[in-house]
Amino acid sequence: MGILEDRVAVVTGAGRGIGRDIALCLASEGAKVVVNDVGVSLGGEGTAEDPAAQVCAEIAAAGGQAVPNHDSVSDFEAAGRIIGTAVDTYGRIDIVVNNAGIVRDRTLVKMDEADYDAVIAVHQKGTFNTVRHAAPLMKEAGYGRIVNITSSAGLRGNFGQSNYGAAKAAIMGMTFVWALELGKYGITSNAVAPAGFTRMTEGLYAGAEPPADQDPALNAPLIAFLASEGASYVNGQVLGRTGYAYTLFQTPRPIATMYKDGGWTPEEVSEHFHEVLGLHLQPVGMGDHPLLGKKG
Ligand SMILES: NC(=O)c1ccc[n+]([C@@H]2O[C@H](COP(=O)([O-])OP(=O)(O)OC[C@H]3O[C@@H](n4cnc5c(N)ncnc54)[C@H](O)[C@@H]3O)[C@@H](O)[C@H]2O)c1
Repeated sequence: MGILEDRVAVVTGAGRGIGRDIALCLASEGAKVVVNDVGVSLGGEGTAEDPAAQVCAEIAAAGGQAVPNHDSVSDFEAAGRIIGTAVDTYGRIDIVVNNAGIVRDRTLVKMDEADYDAVIAVHQKGTFNTVRHAAPLMKEAGYGRIVNITSSAGLRGNFGQSNYGAAKAAIMGMTFVWALELGKYGITSNAVAPAGFTRMTEGLYAGAEPPADQDPALNAPLIAFLASEGASYVNGQVLGRTGYAYTLFQTPRPIATMYKDGGWTPEEVSEHFHEVLGLHLQPVGMGDHPLLGKKG
């Protein structure tokens, strides 16, 4: 018996990379899986590929159950059809893993509006879209597991990713809100910042062989656990993977305070900031991310 026996899951963007491994892992743990993937290029342009069907064939060959879906998460009505595929095929929806993603990296001064909108539409709006359709069904059933794929680029900042960083930080914010709103109905919402050698990160290696600990399959066991009944006590958390380690991120919270009765003038802030809050300034960026160390 697997930890997801007879559960029904949707994994978006599950035709390639990290999502593919999540779908394979959930299926191997007994879940019936809707393998959603619209089959686009890394930047979100259409291709003739059908990776969703390929992953379903792999799951079937391993003795599991899966059905493909080719709708785009970025379209609200289409996202309803993704969840509808789970209900129509398997009768219910227990688990949603919001993994679909694209990137259009450019520095802020070179990023045009279309690059910004396209990335926000898939990651941020796409995550809202699927959950907006699934949550009422989960609420009715009194059970649900939502796992949102975020990124250190959003949690900590990353060069050239205004669009992606904004979307991934928004996903963290929605995860907190949903944990509060849906927790009382037996529905958990957590976020995971994964890592792995996929087409999204291959440029970081400049053609070098990726180390074994960058296998994208290493993310899936944590997501399978979060998607299981046993993780009922884990809600509103942001987790991550680095190498062979799973990590728990600290929720942003106040770490220092400067106070003056009645409030401050700008001159008073200028005079005292450095000796109070200035002592606690925090670094930004993901400089110690293992992938970045491999560049060049
Ligand atoms: N690879 C990493 O190291 C890394 C690090 C942090 C976060 N992530 C996140 O993990 C997730 C998976 O990334 P990956 O590296 O496997 O990328 P990938 O490009 O290999 O896979 C993403 C899949 O999403 C699909 N997709 C894109 N737009 C879609 C849409 N509108 N509807 C349905 N499917 C769509 C693509 O066709 C593709 O198959 C993404 O959310 C990404 O931001 C990846």
